[in-house]
Amino acid sequence: MSADSAEAVYQTTGARHTTPPGKRSGATKLELIGVGKEFRTKRAHTQALEGIDLTIQDGEFVSVIGRSGCGKTTLLRMLAGLLSPTTGQILVEGKSLWNGSKADTSVVSQLGVVFQEANLFPWYSVAENIALPLQLRGDDKASRLARAQELADLVGLGGFERSYPRELSGGMRQRVAIARALSIRPKLLLMDEPFGALDALTRERMNLELQRIALATNATVVFITHDITEAVFLGDRVVHLTPRPGRIAQIKTIGFQKPRSIDVETEPEFGAIARDLRHALDEDEKR
Ligand SMILES: Nc1ncnc2c1ncn2[C@@H]1O[C@H](COP(=O)(O)OP(=O)(O)OP(=O)(O)O)[C@@H](O)[C@H]1O
Ligand SMILES: [Mg+2]
Repeated sequence: MSADSAEAVYQTTGARHTTPPGKRSGATKLELIGVGKEFRTKRAHTQALEGIDLTIQDGEFVSVIGRSGCGKTTLLRMLAGLLSPTTGQILVEGKSLWNGSKADTSVVSQLGVVFQEANLFPWYSVAENIALPLQLRGDDKASRLARAQELADLVGLGGFERSYPRELSGGMRQRVAIARALSIRPKLLLMDEPFGALDALTRERMNLELQRIALATNATVVFITHDITEAVFLGDRVVHLTPRPGRIAQIKTIGFQKPRSIDVETEPEFGAIARDLRHALDEDEKR
């Protein structure tokens, strides 16, 4: 792949962003049309996001990067049904997520969300934490425990099902959070800096794990991060958000075959893409 070939790097500014032709043939999973968010407080009005147009296909892994405060978490919260957009529309498999300021629970209940903190229940075992969404929706105990077992194996926590969160490392806790998000077989997995609190080596291992899990489950993932290397390593596309107001500045298609090994990070093309993104983010700082 050549970093400057039109197919490898797909960049646009301002125009409607869609999946580049020929990349994936699956159905559209998620569509954002003119999505914006304004926060109004007594002291200030903040236009956090404006005119976000993005189409994500089934099975795609989309990384979102941008400087602190550019609206990444705001975007994720709107996708997760936690924060209503001020303008625009969010469609999950063609169905509107928001009806005014109300999120459609039938859509929200099919989303998996992972935040920076694992947010596990300390008095629940690993298996019980993983199965919590299944318990909430009323699945019977035998089927939830079977699913928890399957997921513990999937995220590399086989043998730890009966452990409690305090007995796990940060990386293991985050894997429990990922397994919990996957328990309902979500249509969409939404992740907000899930590995931000981990050391570099653990993070690298978690990136490989997440890639494996995403491929094994054919999950559609929106993955938010500050980390350019992580964004490019995992992403089929990388969306760069610029701040004040948060807008899509560019989208890069990352053409490396999956599964990718960490060695891909030493390839010149990888370096060129990461360098371009770093320069663009540096420019954001000056704005
Ligand atoms: N509940 C809120 N009320 C008012 N303003 C808010 C609220 N939440 C976020 N903002 C503002 O919206 C903008 C985007 O915030 P957001 O948390 O989405 O940024 P971010 O890209 O996730 O940053 P970081 O990388 O630091 O996590 C910021 O200017 C922030 O101050
Ligand atoms: Mg954030």
